[in-house]
Amino acid sequence: MRVLGIETSCDETAASIVALDGGSAPEILSNVVLSQIEEHAAFGGVVPEIAARAHVEALDGIVEAALTDSAVSLDEVDAVAATAGPGLVGGLIVGLMTAKAIAAAANKPLIAINHLEGHALTARLTDGLDFPYLLLLVSGGHTQIVAVRGVGDYQRWATTIDDALGEAFDKTAKMLGLPYPGGPNVEKAAAKGDASRFAFPRPMKGSAQPDFSFSGLKTAVRQAATVIAPLSDQDVADICASFQAAVADALGDRVARALARFRKEFPDKAKPALVVAGGVAANRTIKATLEARCSKAGFAFVAPPQKLCTDNAAMIAWAGIERLRAGMAGENAADFAPRSRW
Ligand code: KG4
Ligand code: ZN
Repeated sequence: MRVLGIETSCDETAASIVALDGGSAPEILSNVVLSQIEEHAAFGGVVPEIAARAHVEALDGIVEAALTDSAVSLDEVDAVAATAGPGLVGGLIVGLMTAKAIAAAANKPLIAINHLEGHALTARLTDGLDFPYLLLLVSGGHTQIVAVRGVGDYQRWATTIDDALGEAFDKTAKMLGLPYPGGPNVEKAAAKGDASRFAFPRPMKGSAQPDFSFSGLKTAVRQAATVIAPLSDQDVADICASFQAAVADALGDRVARALARFRKEFPDKAKPALVVAGGVAANRTIKATLEARCSKAGFAFVAPPQKLCTDNAAMIAWAGIERLRAGMAGENAADFAPRSRW
């Protein structure tokens, strides 16, 4: 089975071919990702209109590169899978329309994929994980804990009631004058900082409610920065370190709750696992905290390679394969409309 995947829901234009043959492990034959970070950097965040135009310009070439890299021709592809939501509607239209055109011209079925399903199933592509498992998705747009029970069978156990975690990193960076994208720069500055200098709040910590919240923390950072302004490099480093410590602590608390719930709901699962996905999962302090929580609770900690944790099309192609082999590819999705809030 060979599936061409296309991803354009945010600021990455991506195409990939993934193959699954017989009983062997799946193989990523190509994985081409063009990031638009430079186009958006001047604005300190993703500008939807710029993103849509950049996808239009790049996508044909990216699909061609994915086919060339994989040495698979369009004829040999079994289906075309494209992200149909959630995301920025302009980008979704570009990706889904392109996929429909390719599928129609090559006479192949089209599979409409939910971007979050792509993230949720990646650990099966990279680590061959069995259902059920727990997923923590922490990106610029999403902060969720999901019980992944099967293909198309996802239960959201927690979400953010305000900002996404990546957004909180990006806004904190902006407040402190660090460049976009904020997350990696906050982590870099934090390495030279004193995490105990500021006692920032640990939002929701200890709360019986499962969800996340980060806007209060953001406000606390702004207040601290305003009080001590003008900020020296050391002040910035200390704020970043203290912010990161607060985030890791709050996240660890939320995750520990979910691990306990998983134990209760799936008592027969022999080797339970927590999978992380999303750009924020690159953060070493956060990773270490989660790893410690997992080890304490007897869970395996699975962090797929960063390239497959952030937005890419291999996860979309793989979700297409999962749906095909489960008989869940749906009707040929030629009339499927993009759903930005899917
Ligand atoms: O998954 P991703 O590449 O794109 C989507 O949002 O879909 O995630 C990007 C987010 C940005 O908010 C970025 O600041 C954050 O992930 N990020 C990080 C780190 N690297 C990326 N946040 C904290 N620490 C990092 N090292
Ligand atoms: Zn994503």
